[in-house]
Order: sequence, then C-alpha cells, then structure tokens
Amino acid sequence: MTFESQNNSKVRAHTNIALVKYWGKENEALKIPTTSSLSLTLDKFYTDTEVTFKNELAADQIIFNGEAVKGNKAKRITNFLNIVREMAGKNIFAEVKTSNNVPTAAGLASSASGFAALAGAASKAIGLKLNKKELSRLARRGSGSATRSIYGGFVEWQKGFGDQTSIGVPFIEKVDWNIHIVAILVNKSEKEMTSTQGMKISKDTSPYYVEWKKLCKRDLKNIKIAIKAHDFSRMGKIAEENAMRMHALTLSADPDFTYFDADSLKVMKLVHNLRQRGIECYFTMDAGPNVKILVEDHNLVSLKQELKKDFDEDKIIVASPGPGIKYLK
Ligand code: PMV
Repeated sequence: MTFESQNNSKVRAHTNIALVKYWGKENEALKIPTTSSLSLTLDKFYTDTEVTFKNELAADQIIFNGEAVKGNKAKRITNFLNIVREMAGKNIFAEVKTSNNVPTAAGLASSASGFAALAGAASKAIGLKLNKKELSRLARRGSGSATRSIYGGFVEWQKGFGDQTSIGVPFIEKVDWNIHIVAILVNKSEKEMTSTQGMKISKDTSPYYVEWKKLCKRDLKNIKIAIKAHDFSRMGKIAEENAMRMHALTLSADPDFTYFDADSLKVMKLVHNLRQRGIECYFTMDAGPNVKILVEDHNLVSLKQELKKDFDEDKIIVASPGPGIKYLK
C-alpha cells in the first residue's frame, strides 16, 4: 500500500473539565505544567477531526466548521503538525477538517478536545502508531488540557519530570457514579485573554502563586480520595475551592484581569443559595465566563428548574462522564 492510499484518519475526542486545575507552565515550549491536575471527560462536548496528508499541497489547509482558518489559529495547528511531521520524518502537508460540538473559546476547553482529536488523527494519518500514553504526550504539545482528553472518565495529568513523563493517566475510566456537570452558557463570545496568556501573567506576577502550587498538591491528593469513595460533598468542595483559587490568581495578577462576568457571579450565588436549601451542587469555572455545576443525579431536576428561572433552556446543557478518543475511520 502506498502512503497516499492510507493517509487519512478521523477521530472524535471529548472535552474535559478540570476539578483540580492546571494554571501555569514550568516549560512554555514543551507545555510542562507547574502542577498536576485532574479532570472529568464529558460526553456532550466533542471535536471531530479528519486529517489527510496530500502530496499536492503546498501548505496545510485547515477547515473549521466548514470555513478556512487563517492567522494565529492556523499557525498553532501548523506548529503542531510540524511536531507530527518531525516525529514521522515526513515532509508533507495536510488537509485538516474539524468540527466542534463545543462553544469555541468560551471556557469549555475546546482546545482540549481539539488537540486530542488532532493528535489522534494526524499521527495515524501520517503512519505513526502511537499508544495512548504517546498520544497524550503529543496532545500536550498542542494544548495542556488536551493531555487529559485522550482518556475517558476521571483523568490525572501528572506533571512529571519532563517531556516523557508529563502525561495523562486514567484515574477512573469507567465512572460508576451518577453525576453530571451542568454547563450554563452565559456568553458565547470569544474570550479576550487566552488561557496561555492568562496563566503566564498569573504565574509571573501573582503573589499567591507559590501558595497555589502547594494547595493544588493537597487538593489533588484529597480529591482522589473523595472520588474513590464517591464522596460528592468532599469532591465538590475541593473542586469549587480550587477553581476560586485559580481565579484569585487572575484577580491578583499585574495587570489584573478576570474571566467572571455578571452572569457568572449570578450562577455562583445561586449555587451557594441552593446548597443552603439542601440542593447540593458545586461550581467550577475555567478561562471563560461559563459556569459548570457539579450535581448528583437525584438533584438534577431541582437544579435545572432553578436555573430555568434565570436562563434560557438552550443555555443549560447537562453533560455526564464521557469516553476517551475514538477512531471514526
Ligand atoms: O490547555 P489550555 O491552554 O486550554 O488551559 C486550560 C486551563 C483551564 O481550563 C482553565 C484549566 C484546566 O486544567 O483545564
């Protein structure tokens, strides 16, 4: 078989929401984090990416949701494809067709599913046979959070000791726990401060950064115990506190910035309020204004009813634990 006849691959990867966040790099080029993190892969949000390497192309062609991608976004993908080409020792350009079932750049970690799918599709299409460990390592070079999206369920991204050991490790792949993450899409516009910029400013200037690293270590240890024991209260409390500490880094950075908007604060207040009324739920938030609420199945209906008083139904998306990457072709 010639290279041309087997040079295509299509992959679906799901996004993940970190319960103990990654917020800062020790090594910018290799995307080695300052701390280990832990996430839950979700079923509702995913990216499908098809990669075809073609001899006749003079440059990579990237099509996102049917439209050609140009500028910095295209450059980021080409840079990633350069890593894949180097690994394979092949100098050939690719056509990348990708579609997202995630509101792009609105804090639902589309880069996680995006680069996990691209790592899977591009590496296979160029003829590399990577196992999941190797895929996770490769996905990390595109976006840190993508490291975890190779696997389903609860996944730890171990900081490691460098390129080889900084990878995702499944913690509990098959989640036997009826829990959900309810995403409230408070704003679909693109974020102003990328996570790359935001975490760098936080790490370089927040006086609390040293403390953040220490507490992440403690949070990770404790959340693993809570997850294993299906202790929802403990897991939720750790996730909420960890998220707020991450956002405290942005507020205490120089220049200060925030991903909160008025609606984000409204949802947080509602969550506190519901807890007082016995509807147990916890929030988390990433590099965008959308808030994600952790809830057990028996409280889902009540939570949705409350949210519907303030938000349109189509802005409330219920997700559950989801799978790792899948080859579609
Ligand atoms: O991998 P990036 O650059 O999309 O950064 C992700 C950062 C957070 O989503 C805020 C936290 C995390 O661990 O996913």
